[in-house]
Amino acid sequence: METGPWTLWGREYDSPLMLASGTAGFGLELMEMGMLAGVAAVVSKATTLLPRDGNVPPRIVETRYGLLNSVGLANPGVEEVLASVLPAASRLPVPLIVNVAGDTVEDYASVVERLDSSPVPVGYEINVSCPNVSAGGAAFGASPSTVEEVSRLVAAATRRPFSVKLTPNEGSMVESAAAAEEGGASAVTVCNTFLGMTVDWRTGEAPLKRGVGGYSSPALLPLTVARVHLTRRAVGIPVLASGGVGSPEDVLELLAAGATMVQVGTWLMRRPGAALELLEGVRELLDGLRGFPDGTGT
Ligand code: FUM
Repeated sequence: METGPWTLWGREYDSPLMLASGTAGFGLELMEMGMLAGVAAVVSKATTLLPRDGNVPPRIVETRYGLLNSVGLANPGVEEVLASVLPAASRLPVPLIVNVAGDTVEDYASVVERLDSSPVPVGYEINVSCPNVSAGGAAFGASPSTVEEVSRLVAAATRRPFSVKLTPNEGSMVESAAAAEEGGASAVTVCNTFLGMTVDWRTGEAPLKRGVGGYSSPALLPLTVARVHLTRRAVGIPVLASGGVGSPEDVLELLAAGATMVQVGTWLMRRPGAALELLEGVRELLDGLRGFPDGTGT
């Protein structure tokens, strides 16, 4: 397990924590509030070729143990992101990785090509796993051959590194991870949210208009640990863990399972300053481990 500094794509970080896509916009509000301490890099909300209004509200529903989202990739489109969001994001104190989504396999490369005209993104996260859209999204991620094709097109469009964010909901994630590597991806993100649903038992109604949405919760940790472990054995590129973090122990568990970096999402919504708390906890636990004479903590 990496005990720090943590390295991704040739950059060294004194934190293994990234902000998961969709949980902090482009990080601008957290920056204004001085709450990016402890964060190694921000992964932005998805950017698409054209603006998207997203799904009909409500888009977020809190359940007893976690959060269901159905945002529908709402975003202003790549031209507006280039014109006004990225210039503001150039003030971020940490690197920005832009999450990219598409309706067609060609969209991803087109968006990346446009984003490459800005010096701000250090890399991309290719979102072939959104559970909340009818075109593209998880349907792409479920097919290893489509994942490979998207990865090849993106690799041909940019010299910047990119991670492919995989779906746990359809197909074989491990095969899709291998396909992403084959296509030229520089990492895989394991993984997007799990398809979930909540129903009001009194009315039989689901609060989300699409019925189902993407579920996230610290309770998902063992599901992510298993997927990180299985993916780690299948690919040689970095595995970025995403899903299930609610404590410093969770971060270390994901690193021990084979993650290179760990993304934090839902936990931030409960505690916007969570990254620093998590990092301090991680450091304390690692210091304790190093305190044992044989360095193993056993
Ligand atoms: O609905 C959404 O915008 C979610 C996106 C994702 O999970 O990738």
